[in-house]
Amino acid sequence: MLSLKMGNVLTLWTFLGILLCINARVDKCGTLLLDGCFCGQQYHDDQIYFIVNCTGLGFRNTDVLKLLPEETEMLVFTGNHISTLPTNLFGEENNLKRLKIIDMSNNGIHDIKGKAFHHVPNVTRLLLNHNNISISSDDEHNFHHPRVFSNLYNLQELHLTNAFQVK
Ligand SMILES: *[C@@H]1O[C@H](CO)[C@@H](O)[C@H](O)[C@H]1NC(C)=O
Ligand SMILES: *[C@@H]1O[C@H](CO)[C@@H](O)[C@H](O)[C@H]1NC(C)=O
Ligand SMILES: *[C@@H]1O[C@H](CO)[C@@H](O)[C@H](O)[C@H]1NC(C)=O
Repeated sequence: MLSLKMGNVLTLWTFLGILLCINARVDKCGTLLLDGCFCGQQYHDDQIYFIVNCTGLGFRNTDVLKLLPEETEMLVFTGNHISTLPTNLFGEENNLKRLKIIDMSNNGIHDIKGKAFHHVPNVTRLLLNHNNISISSDDEHNFHHPRVFSNLYNLQELHLTNAFQVK
C-alpha cells in the first residue's frame, strides 16, 4: 500500500516537473517550435535588444518565423539550410513593428519570393550575406519577383556580401 502511494506521489512530482520545464521553455520564446533558439534581452552595438537568435539549429524552412514573439527587435536566423524565403515570411497577420534588424546570413538561400519581407515595416538593417541567391536570367523561377524588398520602408542597410550564386 505504502509503496503504491509513494509511486503515485513520485509520478505526480515527475509530471509537475515536466510541466514546469515545458512552461519555462515556452516562456522564453513563446512557443516550443522555437526550441533551441535564444530569446531575450541582449546587448548588441551598445544597445539592448530583444533578440531571437536561431543560429545553426538545422532549420530547413522558415515556418517558425511566423511565431516570433511580438517584442522581437532583432532576429538572428543564420547557419540553417533554407533554400527559399517565401512570400510573407513572417506571416500575414503578424505585425512585427519593433523588428529592426534581420540577419539571415549563411543559410544557402537560393530564392527570395516577392513580398517576402512584408509586415515588418520598421526593419532598418537586413543582412543576407553568404547565401546562394540566383539572379541569372536563364533561371526563370528565381529572383524574378519585382517586389522582393518592397515594404521595407525604413531600410537603411542591405548587406549582400557573397550573397549571390556564382555560375
Ligand atoms: C547568436 O548565437 C550564436 C550561437 O550561440 C552566437 O555565436 C552569436 O554570437 C549570437 N549572435 C548574437 C547577435 O547574439
Ligand atoms: C514603426 O513604424 C511606424 C510607421 O511605419 C511608426 O509609426 C512606429 O513608431 C514604428 N515603431 C517603432 C517601434 O519603431
Ligand atoms: C548554389 O546553387 C547552385 C544551383 O542550384 C548549386 O549548384 C550550388 O551547389 C549551390 N552552392 C552552394 C554553396 O550551396
